[in-house]
Amino acid sequence: MRIGLFGGTFDPIHVGHLVLATVAMEEGKLDRVIFMPAGLPPHKVGKHIAAPQHRLNMVKLAAGREPRFQVSDWELSKEEVSYTIDTVKWMRKQYPQDELFFIIGADMLADFPTWHAANEILQIVTLLAVPRPGFGELNAQQVWEQLPEHFRRRVQIVDMPEMEIASTWIRSRIQSGKSIHYLVPLQVEDYIIQHHLYEYRLGIEQTVPVAANDVLDQSRWIVCEQQIREYAMEQLSPYRFRHVEGVVQSAVELAKKYGVDERKIRVAAWLHDVAREWEPERLLAEADRLGIEQIFYIAVDLLHGPIAAKLAGEKFGLFDPEITQAVKYHTCGRAAMTVFEKVLCLADAIEPSRVYPGVDQVRRLAFNSLEKALAVQFDGTIAYLLQRNKPICVNTLLARNEWWQEVAETPADGARTNGNNS
Ligand SMILES: [Fe+2]
Ligand SMILES: [Fe+2]
Repeated sequence: MRIGLFGGTFDPIHVGHLVLATVAMEEGKLDRVIFMPAGLPPHKVGKHIAAPQHRLNMVKLAAGREPRFQVSDWELSKEEVSYTIDTVKWMRKQYPQDELFFIIGADMLADFPTWHAANEILQIVTLLAVPRPGFGELNAQQVWEQLPEHFRRRVQIVDMPEMEIASTWIRSRIQSGKSIHYLVPLQVEDYIIQHHLYEYRLGIEQTVPVAANDVLDQSRWIVCEQQIREYAMEQLSPYRFRHVEGVVQSAVELAKKYGVDERKIRVAAWLHDVAREWEPERLLAEADRLGIEQIFYIAVDLLHGPIAAKLAGEKFGLFDPEITQAVKYHTCGRAAMTVFEKVLCLADAIEPSRVYPGVDQVRRLAFNSLEKALAVQFDGTIAYLLQRNKPICVNTLLARNEWWQEVAETPADGARTNGNNS
């Protein structure tokens, strides 16, 4: 059997790789091509390079439909980065009887004689050199002619057009919210979306904390905030939009007091009510489409929170869990809310245009204790719902019980009353 080895970072694998492997297979008369994602130094993995498991999974998805393509995780599973000679020796061990080929970019051909153990490599494999952008077959031929005779016998130039697709370009498209449709196989596209790969454009990749003074990240947040603000304006009546502006204002004030990231809370505030005025039919249809948890279906009014949280990812590439969780639970609350969640929830209740009975008390408490203010606010909400015989979300009760205890344990508190706010 004639077997070709195709190594690369594959970050992510794209149609250029697949076309290359196919042409190399035909031109080199190979029976099989083995894709081998390269191991990388650990410090490179994270912000710009996807985790090895993700790269491997994507290669498997991409190669899965061609029976002559195989995938090996040999390099990935090794602790240290390997030399080509180690890889081809491994290959020889796996396939002692077969004819082996190693696919490389034609641009690497000129340097090949200087590679570690170049002679030894060519005793084991034949090189299949494929044209690269800016380094076509003609260049490759010229370089080939310069090679020593014993090298030339073991190098074959593959005839194929140069393809101007690069993984870096694909990553930058994802970062700027552009489509990668047709650039990667559909399954790979789905995988990238599902796992939020390469989405550091808003400084919101979960594994990498945002550097607050990073100018680039600053500008990304500004763009994100503008986009969501415009979307809110589009979706809401002037009356509701004024409410949202008020929430932004109150949220920033509370954020200052309680040490919450102001940029993030602004984005959360603009986002929180974008679906607030949708018709019940639309809310229900969207909730079904987005797979919103059953607990929110207890009252149609509650659905606008989790829907807005999901739309953030879908429409704006915003997946920051701090923001999406706060938006998701801003109406009903939940057990063990974060400070960020409490700030949004409370800002929603006390923004300047709110006029319900008891709002002044909640406003006063807000700058004393988030929990006290929320306890009073939630008691009011629960009383209101009971009075009108409406269902109460269990999350609301869980949250309220937590704060009730905290407040009860604070003897200095004279502001709490039962059943206020109704
Ligand atoms: Fe809301
Ligand atoms: Fe609101």
